[in-house]
Amino acid sequence: MAFRNFPKLNGAFINLRELSVNDSKLITRFMNYKIAKNLYDVPYPYTMKNALDFIKSSRSDFNSFNAIHFAIEYRKSSTNDSLPFVGVIGLKGIDLVNKKAGLGYWIGEEYWGKGIATAGVQLIISYAFSELGFEEIDAYVFPENKASIRVLEKNGMNLIGEINEYHPVSGMYRASLKYMIRESEREIMA
Ligand SMILES: CC(C)(COP(=O)(O)OP(=O)(O)OC[C@H]1O[C@@H](n2cnc3c(N)ncnc32)[C@H](O)[C@@H]1OP(=O)(O)O)[C@@H](O)C(=O)NCCC(=O)NCCS
Repeated sequence: MAFRNFPKLNGAFINLRELSVNDSKLITRFMNYKIAKNLYDVPYPYTMKNALDFIKSSRSDFNSFNAIHFAIEYRKSSTNDSLPFVGVIGLKGIDLVNKKAGLGYWIGEEYWGKGIATAGVQLIISYAFSELGFEEIDAYVFPENKASIRVLEKNGMNLIGEINEYHPVSGMYRASLKYMIRESEREIMA
């Protein structure tokens, strides 16, 4: 797949854009334990260096097309020209042979409950199927993470199984639920 400029996706009230070094402060500030404990691949406690490393590796992941991590901007709260950075969403583990990828996201706590993750997942799924030609998107979620399960289900993702894996942030083995959506089974989302 020829891929070139970083994509910019615009929804009704969010934009997804390339991560910038300028996002590192907010990423570091937002990454509290309530967020980190629900993610599989972030260190905790989270430092500015972790944020800068993440932004840097996001660039190389995009160049090699292993992953596409977007910054989420929220348009509704904007009172001036600069839109607030509110979280991250991405496709990871991109498998071009089987046309599939995994989904990951988090939103800064002060922006929870505004429909931002739901809108982000909707944009990403649409982009992955319509623009990238992917056929399958999956996501892993801890069973107690009811808000995230709701976000996945609202976007038409279905529970297909459970795995048990070591989770570095909590330092133990934990069960995760696997959700999936296939392009062929997708109902057209509004
Ligand atoms: C999960 C997360 C991304 C949700 O972000 P958000 O922008 O607040 O999500 P939305 O507002 O789009 O939707 C949340 C939905 O969950 C529901 N919800 C929230 N808490 C809930 C709970 N305890 N039980 C059941 N539903 C809950 C909300 O009511 C809403 O559903 P609704 O629109 O039908 O009312 C955010 O809480 C987060 O970043 N958590 C930490 C990181 C994380 O869990 N990432 C996902 C890993 S799989």
